[in-house]
Amino acid sequence: MTKAPRSNAKKPEPARRRFNGLLVVLAVVVVLVVGFGAAQVYFGLNGVESAGAARIGGPFTLIDQDGRTVSDKDFRGKWMLVYFGFTFCPDICPTSLARNDDALAMLGDKGVKVVPVLISVDPERDTPERLKDYVKFFSPRLVGLTGSPQQIAEVAREYRVYYAKAGQKDDATYLIDHSALTYLIGPDGRFVQFFRAQASPQEIADRLNELL
Ligand code: NI
Repeated sequence: MTKAPRSNAKKPEPARRRFNGLLVVLAVVVVLVVGFGAAQVYFGLNGVESAGAARIGGPFTLIDQDGRTVSDKDFRGKWMLVYFGFTFCPDICPTSLARNDDALAMLGDKGVKVVPVLISVDPERDTPERLKDYVKFFSPRLVGLTGSPQQIAEVAREYRVYYAKAGQKDDATYLIDHSALTYLIGPDGRFVQFFRAQASPQEIADRLNELL
């Protein structure tokens, strides 16, 4: 800490300015440290493909595209490829969902052991009816899940999925920023690993082929 020289009573301003400057620097450091920590929680999953397995995923109760209440337990005995997104997404979501479906198609008969799932991060607009129209566009086996904002917040927290409204022009045309990982859940309901948005259908198919 710099100490303002007390004898220099005629020039208190620069000292105060220096102190204020120091506070600003400290504040920036605190913001950076906190921000880095938060970023690690959301995006630092890179290094924990299996090490952090126990802390990703968990129980959920949601509504499927036919309006039925479903929980994670309804998927026991099947593998799940879980993707979080929203039906109004212009690019990443359709690309990822089509990619996941391509990967399952590459597995042939083995692919039926895996249920591809879309969990909406836009519960306000993604009604079961809207999801129904959307999922059949990709694959008859794609399951669309939505729920109350509270239910979605809970499942997103369990999967450490980041999502936030963005680019809002009016009430109806907002976009949602969201993380775009696909999570592989085993038949016992436990997280196995995730696939990045950049992973190719072949990479995913190869990995699933090893596991199934
Ligand atoms: Ni998206």
